[in-house]
Amino acid sequence: MARNGRQAGPGDNRPVALVTGGGRRIGAAIVHELARVGFLVVLTYRESREAADALAARAAGVALPLDLRRPDSFPPFAGHFRETFGRLDLLVHNAALFPRTPIGEVTVSVWDEVFAVNTRAPFLLTQACLPLLLASPGPPAIVFLGDAGASRLWPSYIPYCLSKVAVEAEAKALAKALSPAVRVGLVRPGLALRAEDFPEERWDALRAKRKRRGPDSPDKVARAVASFVKRAKADSHILKA
Ligand SMILES: NC(=O)c1ccc[n+]([C@@H]2O[C@H](COP(=O)([O-])OP(=O)(O)OC[C@H]3O[C@@H](n4cnc5c(N)ncnc54)[C@H](OP(=O)(O)O)[C@@H]3O)[C@@H](O)[C@H]2O)c1
Repeated sequence: MARNGRQAGPGDNRPVALVTGGGRRIGAAIVHELARVGFLVVLTYRESREAADALAARAAGVALPLDLRRPDSFPPFAGHFRETFGRLDLLVHNAALFPRTPIGEVTVSVWDEVFAVNTRAPFLLTQACLPLLLASPGPPAIVFLGDAGASRLWPSYIPYCLSKVAVEAEAKALAKALSPAVRVGLVRPGLALRAEDFPEERWDALRAKRKRRGPDSPDKVARAVASFVKRAKADSHILKA
């Protein structure tokens, strides 16, 4: 199952981070930054196997397949993770779906898929990984990726916006439930990286007029994640980057 990169093993004392959807874009920046600050980074992918393998090799990490629509795969994934790496110190819920869904075009399947990947998976994957996190020499941490603009409820992206508003509440709920054993953070990117199918002119216009909200580049998002992790206090709190 493990692909590329250096395996954790005897003599490798790096703390271990798991980054979902870490093969490309913002996830890749987070993987680079966490590797730079000393983590063995395990990144997951669904479609981007080639990019994930290449990145894992560059970052001395490991790439694993994980389809976040399939929660039945999370307990075996966590079991495999324990056997392979022996520890988990940081879980970063980065993967998401951002489909354009104007009202009138929202199907049941797209609604379910957005909530499955963006909202349900972070909760259930956290639950599956919790025993491993709690065994970390610590302090273990979980970071959720929200969206600084989600509360604006963009009309053409209502399921996405609702899923991200829910993720922010989810992060707060887990901070309440898991404190002080696990630190829970929330990073809320701004307009950081245009989605490939989002019109370029519209993106430029939005960036030109937007008030400064949230980290607005992949590197800034990655640094916000790392900076939460570095503030290794035993108490749990929410970071609004
Ligand atoms: N881009 C921005 O400006 C921006 C702004 C605000 C918030 N954010 C948040 O920041 C995070 C990263 O943003 P991004 O734009 O880099 O995200 P993205 O490119 O839209 O998605 C990141 C990764 O999610 C993975 N993914 C999607 N469906 C999956 C599934 N069923 N199972 C497993 N993985 C799945 C994909 O992995 P594969 O490629 O391997 O399939 C994809 O590469 C997201 O949570 C996003 O909501 C981004």
